[in-house]
Amino acid sequence: MAEVAPVSRRKADHIQINLEKDVASALTTGLERLRFDHTALPELDLYAVRTDLTFLGRRLAAPVLISSMTGGTAEAERLNLALAGAAQESGVAMGLGSLRAALEDPSLASTFQVRRAAPDILLLANLGAVQLNYGYGAEECRRAVDLVEADALVLHLNALQEALQPEGDSNFAGLLAKIEAVCASLPVPVIAKEVGWGISADDARRLVQAGVAAIDVAGAGGTSWSQVEMHRTTDPEAARLAAAFVNWGIPTAEAIRQVRHALPEIPLIASGGLRSGTDIAKGIALGADLGAMAGPFLRAAAESPEAVVGAIHAVVNELRLVMFATGSGDLASLRRARLVPLS
Ligand SMILES: Cc1cc2nc3c(=O)[nH]c(=O)nc-3n(C[C@H](O)[C@H](O)[C@H](O)COP(=O)(O)O)c2cc1C
Repeated sequence: MAEVAPVSRRKADHIQINLEKDVASALTTGLERLRFDHTALPELDLYAVRTDLTFLGRRLAAPVLISSMTGGTAEAERLNLALAGAAQESGVAMGLGSLRAALEDPSLASTFQVRRAAPDILLLANLGAVQLNYGYGAEECRRAVDLVEADALVLHLNALQEALQPEGDSNFAGLLAKIEAVCASLPVPVIAKEVGWGISADDARRLVQAGVAAIDVAGAGGTSWSQVEMHRTTDPEAARLAAAFVNWGIPTAEAIRQVRHALPEIPLIASGGLRSGTDIAKGIALGADLGAMAGPFLRAAAESPEAVVGAIHAVVNELRLVMFATGSGDLASLRRARLVPLS
């Protein structure tokens, strides 16, 4: 049996591997096979284009979420504060990495506590849903939310990742009923999220019936967690097994389409391989309310807090131009913009 890696050690490995190795899925999001119908006659003043919206009851300046990533180490604290400060300055939302490390070792709580840098943002706490099968319940979920003063809790579904980790928690049996119990007792909304292999229409339906308030599809086409685990293991057989999943998952464009079609009203986040304002715009035109990115913001945060502000600014500017060039004065109108398959 492999030695159990402490949660913080694993987090540090994850950051390092994501920054230094090629962890891209062999699949693409599918967004690259779509193009917007250009309008030569937008009938809009560029400066009147509005990117603001309300999501889960909070106002955002733009439909952008910094995906759940990190916490638990000194380096993670630096990254979280850089991400949070930039989110505050830009009026976008942010997710924290899994709070399990802080629940197990309260001295690590400060590495997740970003309200000092971001008092006003939509802030999402995060825990692995599978922990509900390993001793966690509504009480731990509430503690995670309170610890960081979050507005909502993301429960991430990472079955394949856990299965590929030597120390992984891979008992996912009976989880839905436990998610339902958490949704019923938590005072904040619960968001169900994958980590890069996508959520199907059927899964989304079951999650929403269980009381989940929003879905983040986190589809395939970007960061691949089987590739991350492949780089992390020192066992050649485990590495071979992980490598077999490099082209696994529901591509992001397909996951968004499926979930929106099945659940026309559910607050929906597009993520997994989104890399630009155009990608976010396509996600919205496919039916999402927000677009989220992890890898690109991580690399910016590793550079400097200013680089994160710059990265958000670049994404929002590009989104605004896409809205202009499709004649979309606001996000509701972008939702109706025509996407056509590239021939
Ligand atoms: C360093 C790092 C750590 C992550 N940790 C978490 C986590 O704790 N919880 C979670 O739900 N997702 C986590 N993710 C997954 C991302 O939120 C996201 O779903 C995934 O990376 C796909 O998005 P991307 O292609 O934009 O990177 C992590 C991603 C990165 C890069």
